[in-house]
Amino acid sequence: MNLLDVLHRRYTPRGYAPRPLPPEVLSTLFEAARWAPSSYNRQPWRFLVARQGTEAYAKLLDTLAPANRAWAQTAPVLVLGVAVTEDDRGPNRYAEHDLGMASGFLTVQAAALGVYPSFMAGFDKARAAAAFALPPQARPMTVIALGYPEDPNPPAGRSRLPLEAIVFDGAWDVPFGGE
Ligand SMILES: Cc1cc2nc3c(=O)[nH]c(=O)nc-3n(C[C@H](O)[C@H](O)[C@H](O)COP(=O)(O)O)c2cc1C
Repeated sequence: MNLLDVLHRRYTPRGYAPRPLPPEVLSTLFEAARWAPSSYNRQPWRFLVARQGTEAYAKLLDTLAPANRAWAQTAPVLVLGVAVTEDDRGPNRYAEHDLGMASGFLTVQAAALGVYPSFMAGFDKARAAAAFALPPQARPMTVIALGYPEDPNPPAGRSRLPLEAIVFDGAWDVPFGGE
C-alpha cells in the first residue's frame, strides 16, 4: 500500500479490539522508533512498556486523566514515552523533538501493520515519574496506547489545516502552491 494511503487511514482510536498485540509486532514498532533520526544522534527516546494485566499497566493506567482512562484501559499495551533531557554531553534541548520523531516512526510502522497508537498528554507526569522511579533527566511526555482499533475506519470529520496554511514558499506571507 502507498505510504500516504497508510497515513491517511491512520487515526487516534479511543477504544481497542480485545485482541492481543503479538510480541513480534510490538518489537517491530520499537525497531522502527530506534531508526529515527535525532540531533547529534543522541537518541534521547525511551519507552517503558506496560502489558495489560500487569502491575506496571495498572500503575500507568492510574496516572491517566479519567477521560483518557475510560477508553485507554481497552488497549493491550500502554507505553510511557520518555525524553532524556540530559546525557553525558549535557542538556539536550531537542530531546522532546526527537522523542516525537521516534514516536512518529513508531506510528507509521504501526499503521502499516493495522496497529493504531493513541498518544496521550493527559496524564500525571509527576506521578508517572514517581511510580516508575525515573531518574531526574528522564521526562515523561506521553502515554501511548497500542492495539488494534475497535473500529478500523477513521471517524468522519477528521480535518487538517490546508497545505497553504502550514507551508510557505520563500517568504512567510507566500503560501506554498506546490509548483
Ligand atoms: C502529543 C499528543 C498528545 C495527545 N493527547 C491526547 C489525550 O490526552 N487524549 C486524547 O483523547 N487524545 C490525545 N491526542 C490525540 C489528538 O487529539 C489527535 O491526534 C488529533 O486530534 C488528531 O486526530 P487523529 O490522530 O485522529 O488524526 C494527543 C496526540 C498527541 C500527538
